[in-house]
Formats: sequence, structure tokens, C-alpha cells
Amino acid sequence: MNVREAETGFAFRVVAWQKRHGRNHLPWQDTQDPYRVWLSEIMLQQTQVVTVLGYFDRFVARFPDVTSLAHASLDDVLGLWSGLGYYSRARNLHQCAQQVVAQFDGVFPQQAQILETLPGIGRSTAAAIASLCFGERVAILDANVKRVLTRVLGFDADLAQASSVNALWSAATGLLPTGRNAAAAMPRYTQGMMDLGATVCFPKKPDCGHCPVQRDCVAQAAGDPQHYPVRSRKLKRSSQSIWLLWAQSQSGAVWLTKRPTPGVWAGLHCLPLFDSEEEMRAVLPASLQGRLRPQAAFLHVLTHKDLHLHPWRLDVAEQTVQWDAGQWVSAQTWPGLGLPAPIRKLLQNDATAAAN
Ligand code: ADE
Repeated sequence: MNVREAETGFAFRVVAWQKRHGRNHLPWQDTQDPYRVWLSEIMLQQTQVVTVLGYFDRFVARFPDVTSLAHASLDDVLGLWSGLGYYSRARNLHQCAQQVVAQFDGVFPQQAQILETLPGIGRSTAAAIASLCFGERVAILDANVKRVLTRVLGFDADLAQASSVNALWSAATGLLPTGRNAAAAMPRYTQGMMDLGATVCFPKKPDCGHCPVQRDCVAQAAGDPQHYPVRSRKLKRSSQSIWLLWAQSQSGAVWLTKRPTPGVWAGLHCLPLFDSEEEMRAVLPASLQGRLRPQAAFLHVLTHKDLHLHPWRLDVAEQTVQWDAGQWVSAQTWPGLGLPAPIRKLLQNDATAAAN
């Protein structure tokens, strides 16, 4: 078998497997509408399919096309995104919709190279949209596909090096469907690579017995798929302690401020944050110091950072305090705002306990 035949064979097997064993009934798959595919790809970048399902449905119900999303307020978009995390995705989504309307008359470009110029759309996401919707012969290379390909190819160069990642992009491109039917095969091939990574080629204990490219797989032949992918640099994690001033009125209104950009939870509505108890106390008059009550501290884990959160409760009448930044937000209004997930949980648990 020459190289070209082997490559054709690989793509062919991925496509045939996807048809029978892949995921074919997700709500963004009954369409080639690039708006829906783009939205789902952005949501799926750092979030599992099961979580995305509900958010996706709510999003398209509220914003059925790119024009309605472009005309929405960022606050409304962040409110709908609330709980999905990685909020820069929502800000980029909104900006991207506005650019599609302003620069492309509300019609998504069809080529990956052009899609990639839009906010929040990297090379792999651009390729996913162009191949799934328009059959363009371009390779995706997200974390799942990196795992599949490094194993199949026995590719053990260090993916912390840009040159290794570039080499893997080239290899991924070399494995795409070829020939007359290539464009027609592309949507299923792209989906098949994603599905293989998510449902067979697990990071730990891959299910090689059910893998359609098992016989191509160097890592499987060597008996050590988990050795791949090789990446030398470890994520440097940091940790931060944050004090939360949780002022609440008898009616359940809370004092919220909008987080500055850039920074943690940029653009979201939040309890006022401080680096220390002293800094928090400094914004309170002496008469209220004795009313501050510490709540149970808790840990919130972000991608690069552990946040140790220390909420302090201050039950006051609305007219008693009025800080420079922020406002009182009623118990009816705050649940609809874009809030960081741990803050929402804190407020919700309290509201639920008060109701019972
Ligand atoms: N992850 C990223 N894109 C996906 C897709 N189209 N289907 C399922 N999982 C995905």
C-alpha cells in the first residue's frame, strides 16, 4: 500500500465509523447553518456536550440568527452565558456577531482562512465551521484530535513547542479525505475525528477495541497509547484570596458592581471584591463595622488559578450605604444578570434557605 492509499484508507474508515457509531443527533447537527454551528463550536470549546445542550437551545431561542445576536446588549449575552464560564468566549461571540453583520452583511464567510480573522475563532474552530458547513478540506486540531493523531501517528514531539504543533497540523492536513468526493466527506470526517477523541480515544484507558483506525495506530501497536500526546510544560497554577462584601437589604436586594476588563470575571456583575479584610473594612463607616458577619470561605477553581473566596455579609437598609461604584439590584433582577458561577451559587443558596 502506498502512502496515498494508506491516507485515503484512514479518512475512509473514520467516515464510515462516524456514520454508524458517531454522534449524529446533536441539535447543531440537523443543519448546516453556520450561525448554529459556530455558536455550538464556541460553546463546546471548553464545555462538555451535556452542559452545552441546554445553553444552546436557550441561546438560539432568544437569538435565532447572527443579526439578533449582534443587536443584543452585551449584558443580555453574558446573562444567557452565565454558568458556562470562560466569559471571554461570550464577549468574543458578541463582537464576532457584530463583525459578521458589519463586514459581511450578516452572512458568515465560507472559508476557514477568513473565518479565522473573526474574534474568538481560532484555526481549529474556523476549520470546524468551514468543513462542517461548507465541505472545505481543512483540518481541525483541538485537544481531542491532537490526542487521536499523536497516538495514530506515534507523534512524540513535544507539543509545548510551536514547531511540533505546526508539524502535527501538516500531518492532520495530509490525512484529510482526498479525491472527487472529498468535499462531501468532509463534514462527517471532521465530526468523526471529534467523536473518536470524545468517545473512544479517551485520555486514560482508550477503548482501542472499538477504534476504526486501530490498525493504523502506532501507539496501540506499541502498547502504550497513554504516552501520547507528549507535552513538557505544565500549567503554572496560582492561587488568590478574595474578600467579598455581600451587602443585602431586607427585601433581598444585593449591592453589585460590574467587574472591570481585563481581570477576573471581566464584564460580569459581582459583589465588590477586595484583596484583604482590611481593604474591605476600609469602605465601611465605623458604625457598620460590627455588623459584618463572616460566612463560610470556599474554593473556586479557574483554569489557571485557585480562588479562595471569603464572603462577609452585611445586612443593611438600602439607604444606609451607597458606594461609588455599583448599585442595589433587587431580588427579582439579580438572577437574570450575568454573574460569576460561585457568586450566583452563594446568593441562590441563601435565597433558597430564606424561602424555606
Ligand atoms: N466538540 C467540539 N465540537 C463538537 C461537535 N461538533 N460535536 C461534538 N462535540 C464537539
